[in-house]
Formats: sequence, C-alpha cells, structure tokens
Amino acid sequence: MADEYVRRDVWALEREQQWHPVVLAYALAVERLRERPADDPTGWTYQAAVHGTTVRPDRWRNQCQHFSWFFLPWHRLYLYWFERIVRSVVASLDEVDPETRDGWALPYWDYGGSRADAALPPAFRARQLPDGRPNPLRVEQRDARMNRGGLLPAQVTSARLALQTLEFAAPRTPGQPAGFGGPVTGWHHAAESGVAVPGALEATPHGVVHTGVGGRGGWMSGFDSAPLDPVFWLHHANIDRLWEVWRGQPRRRDPRHRRWLEFEFDFHDEQGDAVKGTARQVVDTTSLGYRYDDVALPPGPLEAASMGTSSPRPDHPPELVGATDNPVDLTGERTTVQVGVSAPEGPLDALRGGVPDRVYLNVEDVRAEENPGLSYAVYVRVPDDNDDPTDDRFHVGNVHFFGVELTSGSDRDAEHGLAFAFDVTELYRRLRDSDRWNDQVAVTFEPLRPELPPESDESDEEGESGEADAPPAGVRFGRVSIYYQ
Ligand code: C2O
Repeated sequence: MADEYVRRDVWALEREQQWHPVVLAYALAVERLRERPADDPTGWTYQAAVHGTTVRPDRWRNQCQHFSWFFLPWHRLYLYWFERIVRSVVASLDEVDPETRDGWALPYWDYGGSRADAALPPAFRARQLPDGRPNPLRVEQRDARMNRGGLLPAQVTSARLALQTLEFAAPRTPGQPAGFGGPVTGWHHAAESGVAVPGALEATPHGVVHTGVGGRGGWMSGFDSAPLDPVFWLHHANIDRLWEVWRGQPRRRDPRHRRWLEFEFDFHDEQGDAVKGTARQVVDTTSLGYRYDDVALPPGPLEAASMGTSSPRPDHPPELVGATDNPVDLTGERTTVQVGVSAPEGPLDALRGGVPDRVYLNVEDVRAEENPGLSYAVYVRVPDDNDDPTDDRFHVGNVHFFGVELTSGSDRDAEHGLAFAFDVTELYRRLRDSDRWNDQVAVTFEPLRPELPPESDESDEEGESGEADAPPAGVRFGRVSIYYQ
C-alpha cells in the first residue's frame, strides 16, 4: 500500500501510453463492480444510488448535496470512498501489474487544460478493450458528439470565473452570488424550500460539463443517473482538484462555521461497512492520504480580475435596480434581452450616493421540466456597442440545468426554481470609467453544445453521420435582473 496516493491527469496518462495501466485497471474494475448486486453498498448500482435514486432513498442513498455549501465536502467523501472500493477491486486483479495494484488512484479529467483536453479521453470512447471485449468506460447514454471526439465549448471548461470568487460560502440573500462553494444551507438533497442557487464552481465548470457530456437524456445530465457514466468520477475528481487549486488563492475565505465543519455524512467503506465523515476531516486532502499531481492556479489575469471584489461584501442587502417585464423563453437559439436600469432608492442611495460597490446580474426563477441537454453562456454589455455580443470580455458565466427537474418540475412547489447570480462588478467599472454604463444593459444567452473537431475521426460512422440535432426542450427564465450593492 502506498503512503500517499497521487491522482493524475487522465489526458497526461493517455499521452504517455494508450490504455495506460491506471486507466485500464479502472475499466476492469468498473466491469467487476457492475456485476455486484444492486443492494451491495460496494457495487456500481448502489454507488450511483448514493448520489440520487427514487427507488430506496435512505440515510446512504439519494444523498447528493447541491445548491449548498456541502456540495464540495460531500462529493469529496463520496469520491474518496468510491476510490477505495475501486482500489480494493484493482488489488485483486491478476492481470494488473503490482505497481498499479498498489498505488492505484482515481485519475481526473482536466477538460480546461489544453483545448484538445476538452474531448473525452480516448479510453472513454473506444468501443473495445485492448483484448477485444466491450469497453465498460464507453457508454452510449451521452451526447453523441462527445463519443465522436467532440469538444466541450471553452466557456464550459474554464474554471477562471469560479477561481476568482474568493468567498467560499455566502448567505442565500436574493440577488447576491453564492460564493465559490455554495450558499449557506441546511443538509438537503436537491433543494431546500426557497430558491436553489449553485456556488460558482458547482455551476461552471461542474454543471455545464455534466450537461455537455450527457446531452439530452444522457446519464450525465441527471442526478439519478450521472454516476452510472464512468467519466462522472473523473469529472468530480477534477472538481475536487479545483477546490485544492482555489485553496492556493492567498486571499480566499474558508468557511469556519461549526455547522459546516461538523456535519456528519454517511457512506460505506470497501468492506461494505457504514462509515461517517465531516468536512473538518477532509478540507485538507493529505489527511485522506491523497493529493493531486497539479494544483497550480491557471496562468493569466486571475488575480487582476478578482481585485475589484476581493474586499468583503458590503453588509447592506443588494437592491433590485432593473428587470425584464416578461419571462424569457429559450429553445436553443441565441437570445438577447434588454434590461432597463434605474437609480437605487434603498440604503445605497443614502450610503454611497447610489454608487454601487458591487453589481450583480441575476437570472431568476429558471424552470424546465427536464434538463434540455444544453447550457447557455451569459454575456452582458451596453446595447450601443457594435462589438460581437459573444466576445469573451462580456462573458459573465453560464446558466445550467443539472438538477433542474428536482427544483422546478411541474410537480414542485411553486416557490422553487433555480437562480443564478453573477458578479459583473468588473464589467460595470470598465463601462462606468469610460462613461458607457447607462440605463440599458443588453444580456445575451448563447447556447452551448459540444463542437465536433473538423477532422472528426468517425464522421463516416454508420447511423451517426448527418444526424440532426433533436430540438432542445424549452426553458423559461422568470426574469433577468440587475442588483446593486
Ligand atoms: Cu452531485 Cu456532479 O454531481
């Protein structure tokens, strides 16, 4: 047994060697885990049910934490125990070499590395294992483009916006962003009463990668099915790694509340015995005996971009200063709406002569019967600009629908619904400094779908070529609004 397990970049492994032993061992272990009965806590079906299920929810099943500051610690432990289960299977496989058997750790998929890394690694697309048997890492329940080497769009794979959010958690105050790790909530599956707001990392890249891989109706697009896709675990290893990357931000603010640190989560170990864990035990991964091979902050303007919002949030509540009058319906086309902005009349007027310290764009009351199989990038600019509305400089974040059926389906409480709040302070300051912030803001929603690379290898494959996109299911945004704080 190794003293410390190192989780490595799956694309780096693939480039080192096709069917790298670590990846092949994972494939063989997945095959074994799928053979275990559904009520075996160490089996594949049960492990997926730990995340979400309607069949037999209990203390261990149907537990995934989303729209909550428990999102990161819960998923960290979920992955940790899953990894130990896989490792114990790998250790029993004669066809795996001793070094791999001893040191096996879950690889991560860093889709935000080089542009080519935004494609599913080849071992997750190949139809066969090296010995010709069907490959357990390839599942058909995905956006078909991803199995053909499609690339997740750059807006989906970038963690830059999340990493510059310095606060881990924020109270669920209407209008304001939820922090890096999620809003302060109680323990809940799917959503507490009230509005469901994802943290910055949970939204992008987490939620948009889910839908990008799953597409419409694919496993990665729903809470109850996502962990059935073997790539789920490598996606979450990357999200877990990004938490470590964020912890390299010198000015970050970690949560210190006992309510967060000491809440107990229930899991099973590789023997099938019940175990417990808390956030306090897992904030530092070295206490769990693993680390990542690379947790460097991405190069580029990360620090500069976060300057404006590094000061603590003002303690007066955000004020609504503008909103669309009617709901916005989207069906997969680029859509632009105008939001009128008026002067604040609340505390901000008295406090600072109406000049905001922060500006937030909100997309409120997001509803859909099901995940439509795509996400939308959000761009904010002033309408008299002649610039390209989807220029990177105006990109403030993404709206995603992973979990939407649990927060806003027709059978749900009317007060639910997903909400997104984006900090647009930097953009506001840039426009204000050049006297271009005025009483109209244009907000553009751009559909995000995987892009097939031009040299798409399997484009002539039977039944897949020329296949038209199914029309995406519609989604409705109750309103698009601007808040000052
Ligand atoms: Cu609980 Cu990525 O899901």
